[in-house]
Amino acid sequence: MGVVLFMENFRLDPWGHVLIEEYEKLFKFFGLSPTKNLLERIERIGGKSKLYSRGIVFAHRDLDKFLNTVEHGGKAALVTGFMPSGPFHFGHKMVADQIIYFQNMGVKAFIAMADAEAYAVRKIPRKKLLENAKNYVANLIALGVDPKRAVFYMQTNYEPAYYRLAQMASSKVTTSELKAIYGDIEPGKVIAIFTQVADILHPTLEEFGKYKIVVVPVGPDQDPHIRLTRDIAERLGTDIPGLSKPASTYHKLMRGLDGGEKMSSSRPESYISLNEPIEIATSKLMNAYTGGRPTADEQRRFGGVPDKCMIYELYLYHLLDDDVLREIYDKCRNGRILCGEDKRFAARLLRDFLDEHQRKFNEIINVVEDYIELPKY
Ligand code: TRP
Repeated sequence: MGVVLFMENFRLDPWGHVLIEEYEKLFKFFGLSPTKNLLERIERIGGKSKLYSRGIVFAHRDLDKFLNTVEHGGKAALVTGFMPSGPFHFGHKMVADQIIYFQNMGVKAFIAMADAEAYAVRKIPRKKLLENAKNYVANLIALGVDPKRAVFYMQTNYEPAYYRLAQMASSKVTTSELKAIYGDIEPGKVIAIFTQVADILHPTLEEFGKYKIVVVPVGPDQDPHIRLTRDIAERLGTDIPGLSKPASTYHKLMRGLDGGEKMSSSRPESYISLNEPIEIATSKLMNAYTGGRPTADEQRRFGGVPDKCMIYELYLYHLLDDDVLREIYDKCRNGRILCGEDKRFAARLLRDFLDEHQRKFNEIINVVEDYIELPKY
């Protein structure tokens, strides 16, 4: 019984703001597998990427199966979704990087703008959702997601077969199963769940290209949806032949700049948006948590703790290649660089990145409706 209680405490909340401290527990409790055992194979197929070599994408389900399909030339797709509930920030960029990585393997991407979910769980007005969705699509393309190998769609404005799939999925689950996974939830969330199940499974349907398998790159907070979807895929198998269980990968969630909970649109002080004025972005960076020592003297003597530092996290996830990263890490540990100097260096990298990104974004946002069909209301 003790174990069951513990598992209860360890329920993942897909709509919460938790930071997951102990990623290892996820292996044990939810049966995720570490990606490091697959590293060589991933790199052989997709090339080197910091996502995997740095353990940013740290776990998976059935990624080996997915890679088999890719290697044997089978049709493979990626599915992901974004709640367009606030500005597009560096946490979102991590998903863009993964989409690009898989697209380079020849994988087609289906990218949902989860406006139905954001309406239900974040109470964002429709108009705002449509505007944000355009902004997200333009950011993704500006970052390098190839629109020719992607389908962008709104959850509220897609094909009939997708809604039929959501309806059929909902009839394969009992209330007590839902309760065991999510606790007590309102009907809006229940609909959001089955909509997401349809997001994940629809590329395997005839109507959408009959892909053999999909991979879903997500943060571990989304794993409840993945587990449920995998069960539903099996149960729907007799009604919809060819439906396959999705594979998934899990990335570490970037912490907020304050070093606290995960980077989240609902806490402006926690993120740097890819669209904010560069001065504001820079000043957020200059104020970010570093965990530095109280005095410069102590910093020189004892060194810093890069693993706690948000500037290091930005380097690690986004801004630096391996050689410079290593050098700064060592310098910081040995007290040979102080936080102020390091932040000024990071601010320059950030400025260069944002300059270039915003220039591309500004071109794409003007024609973004060529890439996503918005509902006409
Ligand atoms: N629920 C996800 C979030 O909170 C968004 C999402 C919607 C999604 N549909 C998806 C993620 C399909 C992965 C796959 O951000």
